[in-house]
Amino acid sequence: MFALTGIGHLVTNDESVGEGKLGVLHDAALVADDAGNISWVGKQSELANHFDGKPTDVGGRAVIPGFVDSHTHLVFAGDRALEFESRMQGKPYAAGGIKTTMAATRAATDDVLAANVARFASEALASGTTTLEVKSGYGLSVRDEARSLVAAKTATSETTFLGAHVVPPNTNADDYVALVKGEMLDACKGDAKWIDVFCDRGAFDVDQARAILQTGAAAGLGTRIHANQLQQGGGVQLGVELGVASCDHCTHLSQQDIDALSGASATTVATLLPTAELCTRSPFPSARKLIDSGVTVALASDCNPGSSYTSSMPLVIALAVINMGMTCDEALWSATAGGAQALRRSDVGNLHVGSQADMVVLDAASHIHLAYRPGVQQVRAVIRGGKTVVGSL
Ligand code: NIG
Ligand code: FE
Repeated sequence: MFALTGIGHLVTNDESVGEGKLGVLHDAALVADDAGNISWVGKQSELANHFDGKPTDVGGRAVIPGFVDSHTHLVFAGDRALEFESRMQGKPYAAGGIKTTMAATRAATDDVLAANVARFASEALASGTTTLEVKSGYGLSVRDEARSLVAAKTATSETTFLGAHVVPPNTNADDYVALVKGEMLDACKGDAKWIDVFCDRGAFDVDQARAILQTGAAAGLGTRIHANQLQQGGGVQLGVELGVASCDHCTHLSQQDIDALSGASATTVATLLPTAELCTRSPFPSARKLIDSGVTVALASDCNPGSSYTSSMPLVIALAVINMGMTCDEALWSATAGGAQALRRSDVGNLHVGSQADMVVLDAASHIHLAYRPGVQQVRAVIRGGKTVVGSL
């Protein structure tokens, strides 16, 4: 059991205990049980009624739920620094770069892939991410996708089979779609919770994506989709039609796409990935318009070596506020509870009684500072499952 007290600003995402959608409490305390779950949240003046040990005083700092990064591609080898450099000199981003990482990933041993995942997961944890989704998608063969998922599983239970990232070189598209739906899915489904398809220019079309997602769902996997990243198309509306947990990117949306997402807001989340727009110099979609239309919005990093080589959720939040029109409250909700909803989880992304004791102690007076001080390291400590895993208090 442990308790924190002296919390100047506590975000619970529990409207029943504090102010607004973030459920904010001031001069607060919380208790976690031996199983690593939250057992009490309230005013610090009442802590003695709920905890008889010595609480840790955080000195007036802000405490927020750990970030839920619901979209990453952490299983890869090599990097694409030269591609980034030439993009900054004007070369446009295209799906084809994935093949460069495919070659490096295929050449890497299982140990190297697992070590890379561990490195990026610990980098993410250091910036406050306590729940992480990790996709395959740089193997693009039965063997290399299967071992990518084994590597992903060393870091998280939220693993996603993305064999349908692009068609690998020298392969017929129809043959590859058949492979993904058949032998590759069979080899991967035991280590994957989700299936995803990159439905966009240079990747898979709507009919291919529908067939792959339906086959994955029939095999017991949850569904999600990369949609409308590079251009408008049918990806978002396909995602809504299939009831996927999340349509991700949503960079280029029509009014019909927004209406579809709004009508599906209880089932399907729109996951925005502002660091992908930043690093590919793409237009930022308007989160404001989505939220005002009733769409449920999550924020994630898309960490990958091509379009978004960062795992920093604080940076994602800063961009969402500064460039996408979100309020500071909305951005924090989307990076925590919104990410959890995109993974259909209610035990993370909030500090409700009974949820996992996953939280970040900020070297700041409130979560507003996450956007207000972009790029500044403000994580004092990260607690996961009731244990301090980064920093000290
Ligand atoms: O989410 N869009 C598809 N996949 C990744 C990029 C992959 C890459 O460029 O290596 C993304 O942006
Ligand atoms: Fe992605």
